[in-house]
Amino acid sequence: MTIPRTIAIDGPAASGKSTLGERLARRLGYLYFDTGVMYRAVTLKALQTGTDVYDEPRVTRLAEIIVIDVRQASVNDGRMYDVFLDGVDVTWEIRSAPVAANVSVVSTYAGVRKAMTEQQRRIGLQGNVVMVGRDIGTVVLPDADLKIYLDASAEERARRRFVEEQARGIPTSYEDILDNVRTRDKIDSSREVAPLRPAEDAIILNSDHLDADGVLEAAIRLVEAA
Ligand code: DC
Repeated sequence: MTIPRTIAIDGPAASGKSTLGERLARRLGYLYFDTGVMYRAVTLKALQTGTDVYDEPRVTRLAEIIVIDVRQASVNDGRMYDVFLDGVDVTWEIRSAPVAANVSVVSTYAGVRKAMTEQQRRIGLQGNVVMVGRDIGTVVLPDADLKIYLDASAEERARRRFVEEQARGIPTSYEDILDNVRTRDKIDSSREVAPLRPAEDAIILNSDHLDADGVLEAAIRLVEAA
């Protein structure tokens, strides 16, 4: 049996891609690469430098010159990896509310996507990688050995995020989260460049009625059958 060397996992926000990607990579001894962190890092850089996120040429220029580095986790604080932006650890900052509110816009810019895609492809082509995002199977690694599109209804994704945020003590409402999930779906799937959609040869996995273990087991079956 040949195990696929490059595995692409795409899907909408909060569908469980990161959890699956991290666990699958650990199981296979592969590198886990969550490409969303790159768009988040560009967004953070724009906010830090007072750059208007709607100023496409300036944001694109930033994306072309910043150095984003994803490394093995060096701190035991719940992180899956370290993210460095121009040499500074921004692992938690890229998860902040201002970044979350602006990253969808930044990720619509063609020049930003080109800069990020080039770096992601270089890492992906080295193999033994589980790469997670929105356009991995369609654009970044169209020849990936296995493509999984992880889907779930907006209501179920919002419910999971609500439970997560409550557990972390973040004051929030289910309706606000559902609104946010729907808005991000709309932006991600209607943008002109690399919109969110399953690749033609992707296998669609719906996680509405599966927990994290169930999703992992289903993905392992796909790996074994690939
Ligand atoms: O997966 P995430 O929530 O960290 O992604 C953050 C944003 O980046 C989200 O708006 C979609 C975008 N993104 C993208 O356009 N392409 C990718 N390959 C990964 C993320």
